[in-house]
Amino acid sequence: MRKRIVAGNWKMNLTAEEAVNLFNEIEEKLTVTDVDVRAYAPSIYLQSLSGKSKKVTVGAQNFYPSSKGAFTGEISPTQLRSIGINTVLIGHSERRDLFGENNEFIHTKVKSALENELDIILCCGESLETRDAGNEVEFVTGQLSSALNGVESESMKNIAIAYEPIWAIGTGRTATSQQAEDMHLAIRNWLVSKYGSAIAESTSILYGGSCNAGNAKELFACPNVDGGLIGGASLDAEAFLTIISSY
Ligand code: 13P
Repeated sequence: MRKRIVAGNWKMNLTAEEAVNLFNEIEEKLTVTDVDVRAYAPSIYLQSLSGKSKKVTVGAQNFYPSSKGAFTGEISPTQLRSIGINTVLIGHSERRDLFGENNEFIHTKVKSALENELDIILCCGESLETRDAGNEVEFVTGQLSSALNGVESESMKNIAIAYEPIWAIGTGRTATSQQAEDMHLAIRNWLVSKYGSAIAESTSILYGGSCNAGNAKELFACPNVDGGLIGGASLDAEAFLTIISSY
């Protein structure tokens, strides 16, 4: 069976105290054991949260793809590993749109993460304009094709994919379960064509974009939705725990 993953992307939210309180509450109340639960925390909280829980894996939202050097303000994969962080987000639409990360840079980050044995949640997703033009599958598989260029089958066990339609992120407008399932199936089929069915069937594909305690059950019931990457609703312990329990 594919791994089910529910990951919180805290983005640039929470004070230090709030972050610890949220993390502790999730850790204390989490009873589900068959879901890989993760919290992608702001970088300044990573060291204090890293290794704090056996039930919740802490990951980084970002890193710079070089082991060290003159990159003011950036954090390297080596530094992440040195504080016990083993997983990162790559390709989030906010990094692409607000910080100019293009497909080529995202590909470099994927290679760097794999070289440094960091597990990846690789994000993809189209704008409303692209969807309205009917080009969403071509666009998303194009993003994946570029990011995973040259990535060997062997490395796919370290990669999960998150489909996050930009029009659904933080908007309260979630994809319908049919829209999510259609895209997840298209991604799975693309994985079959690139890596074969065994790898495609074992790669987790998460949904992200206004997933919340009210709609998670329906989204997670889709055969090709293997979990969620949760923004806003992951900042509330009760809501996040409800989402985790929504399988
Ligand atoms: P929201 O759940 O707030 O829409 O954010 C989704 C997201 O961007 C997770 O990475």
